[in-house]
Amino acid sequence: MTAIIDHELKVTRTSEETSRQHFVKGMRSYILNDLAGHMRTVWEKKTEPKFEKLNGRKPVDGPEIHKTIKQETIFKFYSSLRCNTQEMVWRSVLPAIDRERQDLTDRINSLSKSKDKAQGTVSIDPELVVPRYTSELDVHLMPGNYHEEGIDNDVAQGSLYDNGLEVFSFGLLGKRMEDITTSVSTFFKEKNPDINPKKILDMGCTTGHSTLPWKDQYPDAEIHGIDVGGPCVRYAHGRAQSYGVTAHFHQMDAEFTNFEDNSFDIVYSCMFLHEVPLNNIKSIFKEANRILKPGGVMIHYELPPNSIMSAYDGFYLDWDSYYNKEPYYKAFRDTDAKKEIIEAGFKEETFFTHVCPSLNLYGHEAVMQAVQNDQKNNDSHVGRFGDGVMWYFFGARK
Ligand SMILES: C[S@@+](CC[C@H](N)C(=O)[O-])C[C@H]1O[C@@H](n2cnc3c(N)ncnc32)[C@H](O)[C@@H]1O
Repeated sequence: MTAIIDHELKVTRTSEETSRQHFVKGMRSYILNDLAGHMRTVWEKKTEPKFEKLNGRKPVDGPEIHKTIKQETIFKFYSSLRCNTQEMVWRSVLPAIDRERQDLTDRINSLSKSKDKAQGTVSIDPELVVPRYTSELDVHLMPGNYHEEGIDNDVAQGSLYDNGLEVFSFGLLGKRMEDITTSVSTFFKEKNPDINPKKILDMGCTTGHSTLPWKDQYPDAEIHGIDVGGPCVRYAHGRAQSYGVTAHFHQMDAEFTNFEDNSFDIVYSCMFLHEVPLNNIKSIFKEANRILKPGGVMIHYELPPNSIMSAYDGFYLDWDSYYNKEPYYKAFRDTDAKKEIIEAGFKEETFFTHVCPSLNLYGHEAVMQAVQNDQKNNDSHVGRFGDGVMWYFFGARK
């Protein structure tokens, strides 16, 4: 299913811009499927046998593969094409956002005031200091990152993420680009029929793609999303209001929230932790533990850890850490999440990991089957952004 931005914050693109975006989507699909497959074949048929002959053994881990394959033309071609295409993702959507920057802000202001379709709220904290680990980077080469503001009540960075994600995901994330959380929450609800959450928090919500699916799953629950990026939470709120989904967005740091002890049934995050250094992740786990009710569940959708993957798959997924301004990515994938979660106060015996098929790609029946069989994590498509992707998530109960 192709992604379409069908809410009222949609920006108008010229036909040249639309063509360019189609081109970039096609390039990304080619790089992450065809070219990635070709690089793997070169590794298996040529580079790895050469390495074995020279060293009398196979490479032990991703970094050793990275060091070896770096010399191959295919790796250089793959990497340079992927870096350039990543820059083109953002460049292909920026002009339309620049043209409508003020208008977008005005549209969001009126959506925020109107309570006709939904009764959500948004709160901005002018005192919040965006953590340096994110403010000092253009994460995944996104110009201006999640937080920069150029006009009053700016929402441009939210729009950049939303429009950029549409191009970046080339249809893999479903119509509203909510497939990860729609899949994960569908799996979670089926697996845990005893849990009936009243209050759910999405940490690092950006523009709410990972927040709103929880309301579909649990319509009676109160839904909150937090993020340090002011433009993102404003945009997330406007997007939710436009879709008629009541959700509450706050500009807040997940390490130090203003929520009361024991107030949430589920604390969730999606594609968030790999952008955070380990020490801060430790504090985030402790904060989640503090604000969860006893018996409440913490759930994180993430990239699968290196410990459950082959050395080649580890190398392949860690590429972003070296070439895509994702400096904490590899360190996160090397972390023992279970150990950290227990240290943060969660019960060891409640730790879980699951792999969930994408609802968009495989359909509802496949997710139900996965709940029954509780698939193990040894599929080379897990976490890989390409055809056949499977979503990995983990967590524990308080
Ligand atoms: C990759 S994005 C998350 C994507 C989003 N959950 C989704 O599914 O589309 C990471 C987000 O985390 C936010 N972030 C980084 N550090 C944070 C912190 N300490 N507290 C809250 N949000 C944070 C960033 O501003 C960014 O919006």
